[in-house]
Amino acid sequence: YRNLRIALLGAGSVGAQVADQLLTHADELAARIGAGVELTGIAVRDVDAPRDVELPRELLTTDAESLILGSDIVVELMGGLEPARTFILQALASGADVVTANKALMATHGPELFEAAGQVGAQLYYEAAVGGAIPIIRPLRDSLAGDRVERILGIVNGTTNFILDRMDTRGESLEQALAIAGELGYAEADPTADIEGYDAAQKAGILASLAFHTLVPIESVHREGITGVTLDQVVAARKAGYVVKLLAICERLSDADGVDGVSARVYPALVPDTHPLAAVHGANNAVFVEAEAAGPLMFYGAGAGGIQTASAVLGDVVSAARRHVVGGPGVAESTHADLPVLPISSITTRY
Ligand code: NDP
Ligand code: HSE
Repeated sequence: YRNLRIALLGAGSVGAQVADQLLTHADELAARIGAGVELTGIAVRDVDAPRDVELPRELLTTDAESLILGSDIVVELMGGLEPARTFILQALASGADVVTANKALMATHGPELFEAAGQVGAQLYYEAAVGGAIPIIRPLRDSLAGDRVERILGIVNGTTNFILDRMDTRGESLEQALAIAGELGYAEADPTADIEGYDAAQKAGILASLAFHTLVPIESVHREGITGVTLDQVVAARKAGYVVKLLAICERLSDADGVDGVSARVYPALVPDTHPLAAVHGANNAVFVEAEAAGPLMFYGAGAGGIQTASAVLGDVVSAARRHVVGGPGVAESTHADLPVLPISSITTRY
């Protein structure tokens, strides 16, 4: 089988690690896929910018559009809405499968992207968009598709968990801890997305859409960040037997509530220090899923970080590549576009 052509858009915290893994483990990946994978180029803004890992200079380009043309798989790791959205639409229109970690884009333009993919029979993979290295998209979309998810309760932003944890365990200020989270590659390009809860709200919207088989638009997710949380509050909470955590809560509202719908909300909450979520430290994430038949399930691991997130991205690349090799339909992907839109509840803040 011919080599599969992979175009990478972005070589930042995650992209540089994905490129490195693709180049370093090319033979092993080829054996798993049944065809070679050729990284044809890496689109960046500045080819001379310093990188976390050394990448072959000849692969770097500022011409993303040319790189996309003729690719089998396009991996978008630039972040942001534009030009990521346009590049992904171009890639899908050309028939390429797309892998992305871009939760902002998926939460905002997911239905449009799925529709574009569906029109040409391409696939859109986004396992890395929620929970970094943690497999959570596939379990919700596939493994639990026959069950009835009642509630999801999670820590889904590594940066804010890192900050709150450092405030709690080291007495650092929010600003001090955020600076370190940025250096470690956890924070978004604009860290306001992390500390104001936008990133967690995007992830909550994605999780709720998958779990409840409906479209939960980002505008309907209640959002509060951690900028109002003070060191004094964190210390006082600990003394009282609680830990402050930024929680994402998605739940199906029962008939007893008198409302038929779904609630998705993100805010800093007091978690009892005996609760498993209280033991989620650093940039780790944890997602509890409560399903009718399965009961409680917990997904835990690195929620941010370049190399960790590269694991999820590469899993998607292998899935997409295998689809090309067998030439069949591959794993059926659910779309947001063809799902019925249930009424979304008015926002509640109870937990
Ligand atoms: P970075 O900001 O570290 O890297 C972004 C990369 O994209 C850079 O290489 C940059 O080029 C390139 N880029 C940005 N805009 C353009 C453009 N217009 N044209 C060409 N190249 C461009 O981001 P991350 O690696 O941290 O994140 C990437 C994606 O992964 C985001 O969607 C993020 O939300 C998501 N994600 C990140 C995680 C993390 O832990 N960091 C975890 C999970 C998901 P240059 O280097 O030249 O500036
Ligand atoms: N900035 C994000 C976080 C990256 O801290 O969780 C992972 O999505």
